[in-house]
Amino acid sequence: ESKRNLIIVSNRLPLSIKRVDGTYQSSISSGGLVTALSGLTKSTEFRWFGWPGIEVKDSKDREEVCKSLNEHDATPIFLDSGLAHEHYNMFSNRILWPILHYQSGVVYEDGPWQAYRRVNELFADAVADAAEPGSLIWVHDYHLMLLPELLRNRLQAKNKRCAIGFFLHTPFPAGDFWRTLPVKKHLIEGLLSSDLIGFHTDEYKQNFIDTCASNLGAHTEIPNQIQYKDRLICAGRYIVGIDPQKFADTLQKQEVQDRIKTLEERYKGMKVIVGVDRLDYIKGLTQKLKGFDSFLDDHPELRNKVVLIQVAVPSREDVKEYQELETELSTLAGKINGKHATPEGTPLLYMHRSVPFTELTALYSVADACLLSSTRDGMNLVSFEYVACQDKKNGVLVLSEFAGSATFMRDGSIPFHPANTTEMSEALYAALNLGAEERQQKHEFLREFVNTHTR
Ligand code: UDP
Ligand code: G6P
Repeated sequence: ESKRNLIIVSNRLPLSIKRVDGTYQSSISSGGLVTALSGLTKSTEFRWFGWPGIEVKDSKDREEVCKSLNEHDATPIFLDSGLAHEHYNMFSNRILWPILHYQSGVVYEDGPWQAYRRVNELFADAVADAAEPGSLIWVHDYHLMLLPELLRNRLQAKNKRCAIGFFLHTPFPAGDFWRTLPVKKHLIEGLLSSDLIGFHTDEYKQNFIDTCASNLGAHTEIPNQIQYKDRLICAGRYIVGIDPQKFADTLQKQEVQDRIKTLEERYKGMKVIVGVDRLDYIKGLTQKLKGFDSFLDDHPELRNKVVLIQVAVPSREDVKEYQELETELSTLAGKINGKHATPEGTPLLYMHRSVPFTELTALYSVADACLLSSTRDGMNLVSFEYVACQDKKNGVLVLSEFAGSATFMRDGSIPFHPANTTEMSEALYAALNLGAEERQQKHEFLREFVNTHTR
């Protein structure tokens, strides 16, 4: 264990603050970034800086929020709600997020960009103050792409020498997607003040390196190195993972074993398919429901014999695209059940809420298959989590070829193209009919991968 002082910076803290009945309450944040980094707490000590998720105006309230977050080694960076809205909802999630995930038709606006810069400056102020000479500062994700540069300038002025790392939890797109962004140069220049920049896959890493060459004229002849102005930056691929032991331990709990029994009893004689995704268009949930609809059309013999339990975790609910998607999905879910339901039951259980960890592990554990249909996805840790809960059943992972994890899990899963409903229907059918031996082989392959990439 290194004695080096480690600072983690991300927009989202491991706990998000919400206001419930006039008091501030914290709850565990959703998403893969928090899952990936929370695994670190076992082996490493660090301080985590980030946005608490809500505006806290009153100084007494701020103190209270600080105190409760400090107990988890988290330090909040408070933002006014207008500024946070423009930084988080408008620039990060309506402009950067779609571009990073290969969406076209993104509309650039200057106001949100100014707010994005401002928030990155406020983060830089807070972190530069807290850092000590020799600290290792590790910045995470697309909300903070300007931070390495702003931080380096401030640290230099304070005469503090620190190493700065950056990790991108999303894809980095190929070709013209990044080029369309008017402020593209500022953002990658911001990143190039890091000493090391990490990506989930070789593909994202190479796309970024190529973009540095074409947009900034950086020298990239040496593999994994970017030479820009007077600096040399390393680019690397790092496979983030989960803490499989946490799932194994949770599965041992009596409460979870009881829950598994209840669910098994409920779905006796049926095949259970599970899906767990943040409600986000990159997860291909519309495609998933449509694919499941065709699967049901294709297999009338499976009527009342199969169920898809889809958890759609509420996410970014102030962003228009996410609101529209929610409406679309609930309509689609209603139509599918309208078409395929019988007096014995409905084939689709669509749950628009988050689920407690114990319930999540029980769901993963009882499912014969897990269906993930991302159209683009940085890594997708849900695919790891399903594997971690399947030692008994050897359930099958049906995984979109566009999830980052498909790069590593292809041989242990059944891959498909998320927009091809026929392919999805066939993949699902194959998964539910796979022989015991093949299931075991696939599971062993995936288990080995998940257990050796634990972050
Ligand atoms: N998750 C959650 N709340 C839930 C259900 C799941 O926070 O109600 C977790 C899930 O266990 C996983 C993470 O959210 O660890 C999702 O990570 P992933 O990498 O799959 O996708 P992301 O949300 O980061 O795009
Ligand atoms: C993805 C992003 C993370 C983000 C998470 C949840 O995993 O890469 O940076 O924290 O989604 O989204 P949210 O907007 O709630 O932070």
